[in-house]
Amino acid sequence: MSATVQVRPSLDDLRTLVDRDLDYLLPASNVYPESIHRAMRHSIFAGGKRLRPILCIESGGLLGAPIGLLARVGAALEMIHTYSLIHDDLPALDNDDLRRGKPTCHVVFGEAIAILAGDALLTLAFRVLSELQGAPPERLVQIIRELASAIGTPEGMIAGQVADLEPRRQPVTPHVLEFIHRAKTGGLLRASVRSGALAANPNGEDLSRLTTYGEKVGLAFQIADDLLDVLGTSAQLGKTAGKDKRQSKATYPSLYGIEESRRIARQLVDEACAALDPFAARGDPLREIARLLIERTA
Ligand code: IPE
Ligand code: IPE
Ligand code: MG
Ligand code: MG
Ligand code: MG
Repeated sequence: MSATVQVRPSLDDLRTLVDRDLDYLLPASNVYPESIHRAMRHSIFAGGKRLRPILCIESGGLLGAPIGLLARVGAALEMIHTYSLIHDDLPALDNDDLRRGKPTCHVVFGEAIAILAGDALLTLAFRVLSELQGAPPERLVQIIRELASAIGTPEGMIAGQVADLEPRRQPVTPHVLEFIHRAKTGGLLRASVRSGALAANPNGEDLSRLTTYGEKVGLAFQIADDLLDVLGTSAQLGKTAGKDKRQSKATYPSLYGIEESRRIARQLVDEACAALDPFAARGDPLREIARLLIERTA
């Protein structure tokens, strides 16, 4: 008698799955007007970690959502994230010339095309979400609303980016710092987890456990990003290291120091993992991702 062994897809398998969808969904680089499609593809395929799609797929998979649907939501999440990076790097924002190990979108294609490439990725993401199949329409609308509120204002990514850019004469308070990090970064990570869960028709308890996980991991992720900016090299990170201090950004290391920031991030990840206790071993992939997020070097 032969037993069927369920092999868990590796993170690389999940990346490949999402990249295949992205390649299918983005207009080809030879489609007129070529410059925008080349710019979109330049930034999407520059080599991101695909963490948001991975979080979505693992959270939805935990509750039994179909992987094809999750990969499609993941592709939309990655489009939104990549749009935010293109705009974050613009001269008017962080003014960065290196991203994902490549020259930034505006360096290669000029500012106008970079702005429009970001807009186009954001717009395409919502079109893809509106065309999702495999869940009841009201659930798909919930996913769309989830992502829209995570990336807008007053509580989402745009609000966080604005607060991040505000000139300051004195250091931010812990409260404002936490707001900035939750809003500019944490919200999309939380929404990545929740949108995966929503694709599975979750009960209230499971959704709230995963929401706690997503919220804690989302904040820990930006603290880790702040730490890497201080401790990593540009070669390692594929983006300019040491720029937060030069630009007087509000960061956890600048307010709390390196060790305390590490402790806060670790504690958040412990709390995120504890929220998964009721899932027992089924929560392992999400636990491993949470640890990876703060132990990463890139
Ligand atoms: C970088 O995100 C921007 C932040 C929100 C901190 P990632 O570290 O996930 O970047 P990629 O997608 O792997 O390039
Ligand atoms: C970026 O925060 C947040 C968004 C893109 C919304 P950072 O400005 O710290 O990200 P990096 O360090 O440039 O990737
Ligand atoms: Mg920024
Ligand atoms: Mg930046
Ligand atoms: Mg950063």
